[in-house]
Amino acid sequence: MMTREDMLRELELLPVWQLRQQAAKATQASMPASIPISNVNTALDRISIIQNFDWQALRVDVKSCQACGLAKTRTQTVFGVGDENADWLIVGEAPGAEEDKRGEPFVGRAGQLLDNMLAAIELKRGENVYIANVLKCRPPENRDPHGEEVMQCDPYLKRQVELIKPKLILALGKFAAQSLLNSDATVTSMRGKLHHYHYHGVPVIVTYHPAYLLRNLADKAKAWDDLCLAKSTMQSL
Ligand code: URA
Repeated sequence: MMTREDMLRELELLPVWQLRQQAAKATQASMPASIPISNVNTALDRISIIQNFDWQALRVDVKSCQACGLAKTRTQTVFGVGDENADWLIVGEAPGAEEDKRGEPFVGRAGQLLDNMLAAIELKRGENVYIANVLKCRPPENRDPHGEEVMQCDPYLKRQVELIKPKLILALGKFAAQSLLNSDATVTSMRGKLHHYHYHGVPVIVTYHPAYLLRNLADKAKAWDDLCLAKSTMQSL
């Protein structure tokens, strides 16, 4: 029978395993005393395992994920869609009702606007474009994602970025921008500039979320500027 050691070796995690013990101690040192080291180890185990997944393993893991309370309220997970070798990665916030029903990101009204935004810069869903969300499950009543949910889902998005290796990421709205850029700045202050994804240094452009633009038509002109910036940045890469 395969032992835990065999499995970790198989996953090429063993050296990381040793480092993780040190990492766990360092993390533990900066955490409240009430969080036991075994929980830190478990979280680090999960992150290390996800970091080594291929597409198939990642899909399977997302589908059965129980890491946060959204597992209980979702209809299904919404993994992401598009060209797995895309130059463009579009990151939204979380599935809404329609996405939860259909299992695909951005298929509701905001999705139609996103498709139009992509068309404006001569892009098409699925063609050199991959679309994913920060959260893979719908928050009930479309409420904002909670910090714990973002934290638990973050390794999935990170792994998607690593597997796709996009040339540029377009962050739609506050949650995508804040989680990709590890920041608590507003969209207004982040848009109009070139940022870099903290994990792999991929260029990131921030713009308004299409659902916000549906309610705030006047900001569509600014979103257009952001799309032009994204396009010219891509052309310069
Ligand atoms: N809003 C998002 O952020 N993502 C979706 O998939 C749909 C709506």
